[in-house]
Amino acid sequence: MSRYNIAVIPGDGVGIEVIEEGLATLEAVAKAHGGLSFEFTRFPWGCRYYLEKGKMMDEDGLKILRDFDAIYLGAVGFPGVPDHISLWGLLLPIRQEFEQYVNLRPIKLFPGVTGPLRSGNIDMICVRENTEGEYAGVGGRMFNGTPQELALQTAVFTRRGMERVMRFAFDYARKNGRQKVTSITKSNACNYSMVFWDEVFAAVSRDYPDIRADQLLVDAAAALFVTRPERFDVVVASNLFGDILTDLGAALQGGIGLAPSANLNPERKYPSMFEPVHGSAPDIAGKGVANPVGAIWSAQMMLEHLGEVEAAGVLMKAIADVLAGGEVRTPDMGGKSTTTQVGEAIRQKILIAS
Ligand code: NAD
Ligand code: IPM
Ligand code: MN
Repeated sequence: MSRYNIAVIPGDGVGIEVIEEGLATLEAVAKAHGGLSFEFTRFPWGCRYYLEKGKMMDEDGLKILRDFDAIYLGAVGFPGVPDHISLWGLLLPIRQEFEQYVNLRPIKLFPGVTGPLRSGNIDMICVRENTEGEYAGVGGRMFNGTPQELALQTAVFTRRGMERVMRFAFDYARKNGRQKVTSITKSNACNYSMVFWDEVFAAVSRDYPDIRADQLLVDAAAALFVTRPERFDVVVASNLFGDILTDLGAALQGGIGLAPSANLNPERKYPSMFEPVHGSAPDIAGKGVANPVGAIWSAQMMLEHLGEVEAAGVLMKAIADVLAGGEVRTPDMGGKSTTTQVGEAIRQKILIAS
Protein backbone atom coordinates (compact mmCIF):
# COMPACT_ATOMS: atom_id res chain seq x y z
CA MET A 1 0.00 0.00 0.00
CA SER A 2 1.51 3.35 -1.04
CA ARG A 3 0.22 6.31 0.92
CA TYR A 4 1.32 9.80 -0.06
CA ASN A 5 1.23 12.96 2.01
CA ILE A 6 0.35 15.82 -0.26
CA ALA A 7 0.41 19.50 0.73
CA VAL A 8 -2.42 21.31 -1.01
CA ILE A 9 -2.29 25.05 -1.60
CA PRO A 10 -5.40 26.01 -3.61
CA GLY A 11 -4.31 29.66 -3.48
CA ASP A 12 -6.38 32.29 -5.26
CA GLY A 13 -9.24 32.72 -7.72
CA VAL A 14 -9.86 29.80 -10.03
CA GLY A 15 -6.94 28.01 -8.37
CA ILE A 16 -9.38 27.04 -5.62
CA GLU A 17 -11.96 25.75 -8.11
CA VAL A 18 -9.65 23.67 -10.28
CA ILE A 19 -7.74 22.15 -7.36
CA GLU A 20 -11.03 20.76 -5.97
CA GLU A 21 -11.45 18.85 -9.23
CA GLY A 22 -7.86 17.67 -9.13
CA LEU A 23 -8.26 16.33 -5.60
CA ALA A 24 -11.56 14.58 -6.36
CA THR A 25 -9.92 13.03 -9.42
CA LEU A 26 -6.91 11.81 -7.46
CA GLU A 27 -9.34 10.23 -4.98
CA ALA A 28 -11.11 8.53 -7.90
CA VAL A 29 -7.80 7.20 -9.20
CA ALA A 30 -6.93 5.89 -5.73
CA LYS A 31 -10.32 4.20 -5.43
CA ALA A 32 -9.94 2.57 -8.83
CA HIS A 33 -6.45 1.34 -7.95
CA GLY A 34 -6.20 -0.68 -4.78
CA GLY A 35 -2.90 -0.02 -3.08
CA LEU A 36 -2.80 3.74 -3.59
CA SER A 37 -4.02 6.41 -1.19
CA PHE A 38 -3.51 10.06 -0.37
CA GLU A 39 -3.50 12.19 2.73
CA PHE A 40 -4.23 15.77 1.65
CA THR A 41 -3.28 18.60 4.00
CA ARG A 42 -4.73 21.93 2.92
CA PHE A 43 -3.08 25.27 3.56
CA PRO A 44 -5.21 28.42 3.28
CA TRP A 45 -2.30 30.53 2.09
CA GLY A 46 -2.79 33.15 -0.59
CA CYS A 47 -4.09 36.68 -1.08
CA ARG A 48 -7.10 36.38 1.27
CA TYR A 49 -4.75 35.10 3.96
CA TYR A 50 -2.49 38.09 3.30
CA LEU A 51 -5.34 40.58 3.65
CA GLU A 52 -6.28 39.03 7.02
CA LYS A 53 -2.85 38.30 8.45
CA GLY A 54 -0.39 40.46 6.54
CA LYS A 55 1.53 37.46 5.19
CA MET A 56 1.09 35.15 2.22
CA MET A 57 2.10 32.06 4.20
CA ASP A 58 3.15 31.25 7.74
CA GLU A 59 6.70 32.12 8.76
CA ASP A 60 7.54 28.44 9.13
CA GLY A 61 5.62 27.54 5.95
CA LEU A 62 8.63 26.32 4.01
CA LYS A 63 9.71 24.22 6.96
CA ILE A 64 6.24 22.64 7.15
CA LEU A 65 6.14 21.90 3.41
CA ARG A 66 9.54 20.22 3.41
CA ASP A 67 8.25 16.93 4.84
CA PHE A 68 5.51 16.33 2.27
CA ASP A 69 5.85 13.92 -0.63
CA ALA A 70 4.66 16.60 -3.05
CA ILE A 71 2.90 19.96 -3.21
CA TYR A 72 -0.23 20.55 -5.29
CA LEU A 73 -0.94 24.22 -5.98
CA GLY A 74 -3.70 26.14 -7.76
CA ALA A 75 -2.67 29.72 -8.49
CA VAL A 76 -1.26 32.67 -6.60
CA GLY A 77 -2.09 36.35 -7.11
CA PHE A 78 -5.32 38.33 -7.03
CA PRO A 79 -6.39 41.98 -7.40
CA GLY A 80 -6.10 43.66 -4.01
CA VAL A 81 -2.58 42.45 -3.34
CA PRO A 82 0.27 43.65 -5.58
CA ASP A 83 1.54 40.74 -7.67
CA HIS A 84 5.17 41.15 -6.68
CA ILE A 85 4.14 40.82 -3.02
CA SER A 86 1.94 37.76 -3.51
CA LEU A 87 4.26 35.89 -5.82
CA TRP A 88 7.42 36.63 -3.85
CA GLY A 89 5.52 35.72 -0.67
CA LEU A 90 4.45 32.23 -1.70
CA LEU A 91 5.06 30.70 -5.15
CA LEU A 92 8.56 31.85 -6.01
CA PRO A 93 10.12 31.10 -2.58
CA ILE A 94 8.82 27.51 -2.80
CA ARG A 95 10.44 27.01 -6.20
CA GLN A 96 13.73 28.46 -4.98
CA GLU A 97 13.87 26.96 -1.46
CA PHE A 98 13.12 23.44 -2.71
CA GLU A 99 15.53 23.73 -5.63
CA GLN A 100 12.76 22.99 -8.09
CA TYR A 101 15.09 24.01 -10.86
CA VAL A 102 13.16 22.25 -13.61
CA ASN A 103 9.75 23.50 -14.64
CA LEU A 104 8.53 20.78 -16.96
CA ARG A 105 5.71 21.90 -19.27
CA PRO A 106 4.34 19.57 -21.94
CA ILE A 107 2.75 21.22 -24.97
CA LYS A 108 0.57 18.73 -26.76
CA LEU A 109 -2.39 19.13 -29.08
CA PHE A 110 -4.76 16.26 -28.26
CA PRO A 111 -6.99 14.57 -30.83
CA GLY A 112 -10.36 16.29 -30.75
CA VAL A 113 -8.99 19.62 -29.56
CA THR A 114 -8.90 22.56 -31.95
CA GLY A 115 -6.13 25.06 -31.32
CA PRO A 116 -5.72 28.34 -33.22
CA LEU A 117 -3.59 26.50 -35.80
CA ARG A 118 -6.49 24.02 -36.21
CA SER A 119 -4.27 20.97 -36.72
CA GLY A 120 -0.67 19.90 -36.82
CA ASN A 121 1.61 17.66 -34.91
CA ILE A 122 2.23 19.60 -31.72
CA ASP A 123 4.02 17.48 -29.15
CA MET A 124 6.87 19.17 -27.39
CA ILE A 125 8.12 19.39 -23.86
CA CYS A 126 9.49 22.60 -22.44
CA VAL A 127 12.16 22.37 -19.77
CA ARG A 128 12.11 25.79 -18.18
CA GLU A 129 14.89 26.84 -15.81
CA ASN A 130 13.01 27.66 -12.63
CA THR A 131 15.21 29.07 -9.88
CA GLU A 132 17.54 31.71 -11.31
CA GLY A 133 18.00 33.73 -14.51
CA GLU A 134 15.70 36.70 -14.81
CA TYR A 135 13.79 35.54 -11.68
CA ALA A 136 16.79 35.68 -9.35
CA GLY A 137 15.17 38.52 -7.44
CA VAL A 138 18.40 40.52 -7.53
CA GLY A 139 18.29 44.23 -8.13
CA GLY A 140 17.07 47.41 -6.61
CA ARG A 141 15.65 50.86 -7.10
CA MET A 142 17.54 54.08 -6.62
CA PHE A 143 17.11 57.82 -6.65
CA ASN A 144 13.37 57.45 -6.10
CA GLY A 145 11.33 60.39 -7.28
CA THR A 146 14.25 62.12 -8.98
CA PRO A 147 14.90 62.49 -12.70
CA GLN A 148 17.77 60.01 -12.21
CA GLU A 149 15.44 57.35 -10.81
CA LEU A 150 16.37 53.87 -12.00
CA ALA A 151 15.66 50.21 -11.42
CA LEU A 152 17.99 47.26 -11.84
CA GLN A 153 16.71 43.71 -12.31
CA THR A 154 19.76 41.54 -12.56
CA ALA A 155 19.53 38.16 -14.23
CA VAL A 156 21.78 35.60 -12.60
CA PHE A 157 23.09 32.67 -14.62
CA THR A 158 25.39 30.22 -12.89
CA ARG A 159 27.29 27.39 -14.56
CA ARG A 160 25.81 24.94 -12.06
CA GLY A 161 22.28 26.26 -12.58
CA MET A 162 22.46 26.08 -16.36
CA GLU A 163 24.28 22.79 -16.54
CA ARG A 164 21.83 20.93 -14.34
CA VAL A 165 18.72 22.05 -16.22
CA MET A 166 20.35 21.32 -19.60
CA ARG A 167 21.44 17.86 -18.45
CA PHE A 168 17.88 17.24 -17.30
CA ALA A 169 16.62 18.18 -20.78
CA PHE A 170 19.04 15.80 -22.53
CA ASP A 171 18.42 12.99 -20.04
CA TYR A 172 14.68 13.51 -20.47
CA ALA A 173 15.06 13.28 -24.25
CA ARG A 174 17.04 10.06 -23.92
CA LYS A 175 14.65 8.42 -21.48
CA ASN A 176 11.55 9.35 -23.45
CA GLY A 177 12.67 8.48 -26.95
CA ARG A 178 12.91 12.08 -28.08
CA GLN A 179 15.42 13.11 -30.75
CA LYS A 180 16.30 16.75 -30.31
CA VAL A 181 16.89 19.41 -27.65
CA THR A 182 16.46 23.02 -28.76
CA SER A 183 18.09 25.67 -26.61
CA ILE A 184 16.41 29.08 -26.71
CA THR A 185 18.56 32.15 -26.09
CA LYS A 186 19.09 35.76 -27.03
CA SER A 187 22.86 35.81 -27.28
CA ASN A 188 22.89 38.42 -30.03
CA ALA A 189 21.73 41.06 -27.54
CA CYS A 190 22.36 39.61 -24.08
CA ASN A 191 26.11 39.48 -24.54
CA TYR A 192 27.04 38.15 -21.10
CA SER A 193 24.30 35.87 -19.83
CA MET A 194 23.14 34.28 -23.05
CA VAL A 195 26.62 33.88 -24.51
CA PHE A 196 27.52 32.00 -21.32
CA TRP A 197 24.31 29.94 -21.70
CA ASP A 198 25.29 29.03 -25.29
CA GLU A 199 28.78 27.95 -24.18
CA VAL A 200 27.43 25.72 -21.42
CA PHE A 201 24.82 24.25 -23.79
CA ALA A 202 27.51 23.41 -26.35
CA ALA A 203 29.61 21.71 -23.68
CA VAL A 204 26.70 19.73 -22.18
CA SER A 205 25.44 18.64 -25.61
CA ARG A 206 28.80 16.99 -26.34
CA ASP A 207 27.96 14.42 -23.65
CA TYR A 208 24.83 13.42 -25.58
CA PRO A 209 25.96 12.56 -29.12
CA ASP A 210 22.80 10.49 -29.63
CA ILE A 211 20.52 13.53 -29.20
CA ARG A 212 20.50 16.39 -31.69
CA ALA A 213 21.43 19.74 -30.17
CA ASP A 214 19.70 22.68 -31.76
CA GLN A 215 19.67 26.39 -31.02
CA LEU A 216 17.35 29.32 -31.72
CA LEU A 217 17.04 32.96 -30.77
CA VAL A 218 13.89 33.49 -28.74
CA ASP A 219 12.25 35.94 -31.13
CA ALA A 220 12.61 33.56 -34.05
CA ALA A 221 11.55 30.66 -31.81
CA ALA A 222 8.32 32.47 -30.91
CA ALA A 223 7.42 32.76 -34.59
CA LEU A 224 8.40 29.14 -35.27
CA PHE A 225 6.21 27.92 -32.40
CA VAL A 226 3.30 29.20 -34.48
CA THR A 227 4.44 28.51 -38.03
CA ARG A 228 6.30 25.20 -37.56
CA PRO A 229 5.46 23.75 -34.14
CA GLU A 230 6.32 20.26 -35.38
CA ARG A 231 10.04 21.23 -35.55
CA PHE A 232 10.18 21.32 -31.72
CA ASP A 233 10.78 18.29 -29.55
CA VAL A 234 12.45 19.06 -26.19
CA VAL A 235 12.97 22.77 -25.57
CA VAL A 236 15.24 24.17 -22.87
CA ALA A 237 14.98 27.84 -21.96
CA SER A 238 15.74 30.33 -19.24
CA ASN A 239 13.15 31.22 -16.61
CA LEU A 240 11.58 34.21 -18.36
CA PHE A 241 11.79 32.93 -21.92
CA GLY A 242 10.36 29.60 -20.73
CA ASP A 243 7.52 31.42 -18.98
CA ILE A 244 6.50 33.36 -22.08
CA LEU A 245 6.96 30.51 -24.55
CA THR A 246 4.86 28.13 -22.45
CA ASP A 247 1.86 30.48 -22.43
CA LEU A 248 2.27 30.64 -26.20
CA GLY A 249 2.52 26.86 -26.24
CA ALA A 250 -0.58 26.62 -24.05
CA ALA A 251 -2.49 28.69 -26.59
CA LEU A 252 -1.33 26.36 -29.37
CA GLN A 253 -2.53 23.30 -27.50
CA GLY A 254 -6.04 24.67 -27.18
CA GLY A 255 -5.88 27.20 -24.36
CA ILE A 256 -4.16 28.24 -21.18
CA GLY A 257 -6.70 26.29 -19.12
CA LEU A 258 -5.34 23.01 -20.50
CA ALA A 259 -1.65 23.40 -19.71
CA PRO A 260 0.03 21.55 -16.83
CA SER A 261 3.37 21.97 -15.12
CA ALA A 262 5.72 20.17 -12.76
CA ASN A 263 8.22 22.13 -10.69
CA LEU A 264 10.77 19.41 -10.10
CA ASN A 265 13.60 18.90 -7.69
CA PRO A 266 15.10 16.05 -9.71
CA GLU A 267 17.36 14.92 -6.87
CA ARG A 268 14.27 14.41 -4.68
CA LYS A 269 15.97 16.07 -1.77
CA TYR A 270 12.93 18.34 -1.46
CA PRO A 271 9.29 18.02 -2.49
CA SER A 272 8.35 18.88 -6.06
CA MET A 273 5.32 21.04 -6.82
CA PHE A 274 2.57 20.50 -9.38
CA GLU A 275 0.38 23.33 -10.67
CA PRO A 276 -1.44 24.38 -13.81
CA VAL A 277 0.38 26.93 -15.98
CA HIS A 278 -2.46 29.44 -15.75
CA GLY A 279 -3.04 32.02 -13.03
CA SER A 280 -6.00 32.90 -10.83
CA ALA A 281 -8.08 34.22 -13.78
CA PRO A 282 -9.87 36.98 -11.81
CA ASP A 283 -12.14 37.64 -14.81
CA ILE A 284 -13.88 34.25 -14.45
CA ALA A 285 -13.16 33.41 -10.78
CA GLY A 286 -16.17 32.31 -8.73
CA LYS A 287 -18.27 31.48 -11.79
CA GLY A 288 -17.55 27.75 -11.82
CA VAL A 289 -16.48 27.76 -15.45
CA ALA A 290 -12.68 27.51 -15.22
CA ASN A 291 -11.17 24.70 -17.22
CA PRO A 292 -9.87 22.10 -14.71
CA VAL A 293 -7.87 20.07 -17.27
CA GLY A 294 -4.55 21.86 -16.63
CA ALA A 295 -4.87 21.21 -12.90
CA ILE A 296 -5.95 17.58 -13.38
CA TRP A 297 -3.15 16.95 -15.85
CA SER A 298 -0.74 18.49 -13.31
CA ALA A 299 -2.02 15.91 -10.79
CA GLN A 300 -1.26 13.28 -13.42
CA MET A 301 2.32 14.56 -13.61
CA MET A 302 2.45 14.27 -9.82
CA LEU A 303 1.44 10.60 -10.03
CA GLU A 304 4.23 10.01 -12.55
CA HIS A 305 6.73 11.73 -10.30
CA LEU A 306 5.62 9.62 -7.35
CA GLY A 307 6.31 6.52 -9.44
CA GLU A 308 2.63 5.60 -9.80
CA VAL A 309 3.08 4.96 -13.50
CA GLU A 310 0.04 2.76 -13.99
CA ALA A 311 -2.33 5.16 -12.21
CA ALA A 312 -0.80 8.05 -14.15
CA GLY A 313 -1.45 6.19 -17.40
CA VAL A 314 -5.09 5.61 -16.50
CA LEU A 315 -5.59 9.27 -15.65
CA MET A 316 -3.87 10.44 -18.84
CA LYS A 317 -6.13 8.22 -20.90
CA ALA A 318 -9.23 9.51 -19.10
CA ILE A 319 -8.21 13.11 -19.85
CA ALA A 320 -7.47 12.28 -23.50
CA ASP A 321 -10.80 10.43 -23.86
CA VAL A 322 -12.81 13.36 -22.53
CA LEU A 323 -10.95 15.79 -24.80
CA ALA A 324 -11.46 13.48 -27.78
CA GLY A 325 -15.16 13.08 -27.00
CA GLY A 326 -15.68 16.79 -27.32
CA GLU A 327 -19.06 16.94 -25.55
CA VAL A 328 -17.93 18.05 -22.12
CA ARG A 329 -15.97 21.30 -22.36
CA THR A 330 -15.72 24.55 -20.48
CA PRO A 331 -16.50 27.84 -22.31
CA ASP A 332 -12.83 28.64 -23.02
CA MET A 333 -12.90 25.61 -25.35
CA GLY A 334 -16.20 26.59 -26.89
CA GLY A 335 -18.34 24.40 -24.64
CA LYS A 336 -21.04 25.00 -22.04
CA SER A 337 -19.90 22.69 -19.26
CA THR A 338 -18.91 23.72 -15.77
CA THR A 339 -15.60 23.07 -14.04
CA THR A 340 -17.20 20.24 -12.05
CA GLN A 341 -18.85 18.64 -15.07
CA VAL A 342 -15.48 18.34 -16.81
CA GLY A 343 -13.94 16.86 -13.64
CA GLU A 344 -16.88 14.44 -13.34
CA ALA A 345 -16.51 13.34 -16.97
CA ILE A 346 -12.84 12.50 -16.37
CA ARG A 347 -13.71 10.60 -13.17
CA GLN A 348 -16.39 8.70 -15.05
CA LYS A 349 -13.78 7.52 -17.57
CA ILE A 350 -11.55 6.35 -14.70
CA LEU A 351 -14.45 4.40 -13.23
CA ILE A 352 -15.21 2.75 -16.57
CA ALA A 353 -11.54 1.79 -17.01
CA SER A 354 -11.31 0.12 -13.60
P1 NAD B 1 -4.33 34.07 -16.02
O1 NAD B 1 -3.68 32.85 -16.51
O2 NAD B 1 -4.89 34.03 -14.67
O3 NAD B 1 -5.49 34.50 -17.04
C1 NAD B 1 -5.24 34.82 -18.41
C2 NAD B 1 -6.51 34.53 -19.24
O4 NAD B 1 -6.70 33.13 -19.31
C3 NAD B 1 -7.79 35.10 -18.63
O5 NAD B 1 -8.64 35.55 -19.65
C4 NAD B 1 -8.40 33.90 -17.90
O6 NAD B 1 -9.80 33.95 -17.79
C5 NAD B 1 -7.96 32.75 -18.78
N1 NAD B 1 -7.79 31.52 -17.98
C6 NAD B 1 -6.82 31.27 -17.08
N2 NAD B 1 -7.02 30.08 -16.52
C7 NAD B 1 -8.11 29.55 -17.07
C8 NAD B 1 -8.83 28.34 -16.88
N3 NAD B 1 -8.42 27.40 -16.02
N4 NAD B 1 -9.95 28.14 -17.62
C9 NAD B 1 -10.36 29.06 -18.50
N5 NAD B 1 -9.75 30.24 -18.71
C10 NAD B 1 -8.63 30.48 -17.99
O7 NAD B 1 -3.24 35.24 -16.17
P2 NAD B 1 -3.30 36.77 -15.63
O8 NAD B 1 -4.66 37.32 -15.81
O9 NAD B 1 -2.16 37.41 -16.27
O10 NAD B 1 -2.99 36.65 -14.09
C11 NAD B 1 -3.96 36.70 -13.05
C12 NAD B 1 -3.25 36.54 -11.72
O11 NAD B 1 -2.67 35.24 -11.61
C13 NAD B 1 -2.10 37.52 -11.51
O12 NAD B 1 -2.08 37.85 -10.16
C14 NAD B 1 -0.88 36.72 -11.88
O13 NAD B 1 0.29 37.19 -11.28
C15 NAD B 1 -1.26 35.35 -11.35
N6 NAD B 1 -0.61 34.23 -12.01
C16 NAD B 1 -0.26 33.18 -11.18
C17 NAD B 1 0.27 32.02 -11.72
C18 NAD B 1 0.65 30.90 -10.82
O14 NAD B 1 0.26 30.88 -9.67
N7 NAD B 1 1.40 29.93 -11.28
C19 NAD B 1 0.43 31.92 -13.11
C20 NAD B 1 0.07 33.00 -13.92
C21 NAD B 1 -0.47 34.15 -13.36
C1 IPM C 1 3.95 30.79 -14.16
C2 IPM C 1 3.60 32.17 -13.66
C3 IPM C 1 4.64 32.66 -12.68
C4 IPM C 1 5.98 32.67 -13.39
C5 IPM C 1 4.33 34.06 -12.10
C6 IPM C 1 2.98 34.11 -11.49
C7 IPM C 1 5.40 34.53 -11.16
O1 IPM C 1 3.44 33.05 -14.73
O2 IPM C 1 4.05 29.86 -13.34
O3 IPM C 1 4.10 30.61 -15.37
O4 IPM C 1 6.28 33.63 -14.12
O5 IPM C 1 6.72 31.73 -13.20
MN1 MN D 1 3.52 32.11 -16.65
